[in-house]
Amino acid sequence: MVKVITYGTYDLLHRGHIRLLERAKALGDYLIVGVTADDFDKTRGKINVQQSLMERVEAVKATGIADEVIIEEYEGQKIDDIRRYGVDIFTVGSDWVGKFDYLREYCEVIYLPRTEGISSSELRQSRRAVSLGLVGDADFLNKIEQESRFVNGIHVAGICTRSLKSLSAEIQGLDFVTENYEELLERVDAVYIRSQPEEHYKQVKLALERGKHVLCEAPTALSESQCRELQALAAEKKLVLMDAIKTAYATAYARMLLLLKGGKIGQIVSVDATCTSLRDASAQEPAEAGRHWDGVYEWGTTALLPVLQLLGPDYRSKNCAVRWLDAEKQHDSFLKADFVYPHAVASIKAGTGVKSEGELVISGTRGYVYVPAPWWKTDYFEIRYEDPNQNRRYFYQLDGEGIRYELVAFAKAVETGRQSYAVDPTCSAAICRFMEDFCAGRDLIEI
Ligand code: CTP
Repeated sequence: MVKVITYGTYDLLHRGHIRLLERAKALGDYLIVGVTADDFDKTRGKINVQQSLMERVEAVKATGIADEVIIEEYEGQKIDDIRRYGVDIFTVGSDWVGKFDYLREYCEVIYLPRTEGISSSELRQSRRAVSLGLVGDADFLNKIEQESRFVNGIHVAGICTRSLKSLSAEIQGLDFVTENYEELLERVDAVYIRSQPEEHYKQVKLALERGKHVLCEAPTALSESQCRELQALAAEKKLVLMDAIKTAYATAYARMLLLLKGGKIGQIVSVDATCTSLRDASAQEPAEAGRHWDGVYEWGTTALLPVLQLLGPDYRSKNCAVRWLDAEKQHDSFLKADFVYPHAVASIKAGTGVKSEGELVISGTRGYVYVPAPWWKTDYFEIRYEDPNQNRRYFYQLDGEGIRYELVAFAKAVETGRQSYAVDPTCSAAICRFMEDFCAGRDLIEI
């Protein structure tokens, strides 16, 4: 029996794919199709795959041409697969000529002529891009604009900021730059909000009322009830309202959550997350009145994420110790919060005025997860057991700190009309509740 193998992304399955599969099958008796798990098209430097891995696998299966469908998860897997399955022929389209000659050591390599006039990229481009307006802190928005270039389906059209001076040359060159939020809303389909947290509720609400989709740095509001009100408004208007917490969209982080929910370390008993970064002393001077992106906002939301996603929003009690930077207690430099759940505990440390090891440890009844610093840019984690032979390491490439994945998730949510559940509404509301308590001084001790 002649075994043939071929690989591809098979996004938005089209006749070019089907013709390739038919001809691959005809080369032998048994066809194995490897569907790439990656959603990052390295050759073009774009994250642009529209369909999820499962959707793509299902589409290939539905053609009925493949005898077996496998998932290609890591680099170097092709050699492993060829040996493991006893493959005789490796084949791909002619767009890859030469690229896989190194496999000739293991099997025959055949490049089949590509079907002219159709490709996944063209199909994706024919879909209209979401025109996005950026709102708020210019320094951060420069980064978003940069990252958006790696994402198909999003076009940054304009920006609304009060700090025009800090804008990069690229942003200055956008279609329009304004200080007037309403003007921005008139000209875009969606907004990315990174303003001071007390402005979020008002800005998100106005955007939703005007029929615009919203991606907002968490917290979306400074009270749970306001957050729920915004969620209800988004649902009523069939608009996407998504929390921007970049870690939530990193592949490694999402896979880790799935493994833990599948019971890999038994029952989860403790979650301990630390996120800190030292700001330079001059930047710590509370120059303007009112709160700013200090420790609690800058890092509190990210540190809370694994706690709320793994243990849920219903803790029995919470204590939070805070170190203030100013007499007015407007600027926090460090906080440590401890949570007690019915069957578990959690703690977070967050700050911009104290430095610590930025790791995440999740302890369970059978083992624990260790994510080394900086865990919020998760690309790697380990599951460790009493018997070190059982330990497992997991690595998933993370490009651009996760921001581009967040933008991809947003573009997909807007396009499909389905909310992204990377940060679900309950988690989002629980983050707002934490902020509400913090601002009201509830469960707060000063150190
Ligand atoms: N293929 C083909 N003819 C086409 C498109 C793809 O023969 N018109 C082949 C590719 O050469 C590859 C397989 O189908 O062997 C899977 O291709 P994939 O990269 O998933 O699809 P593309 O349409 O090429 O996607 P993109 O536009 O993102 O490159």
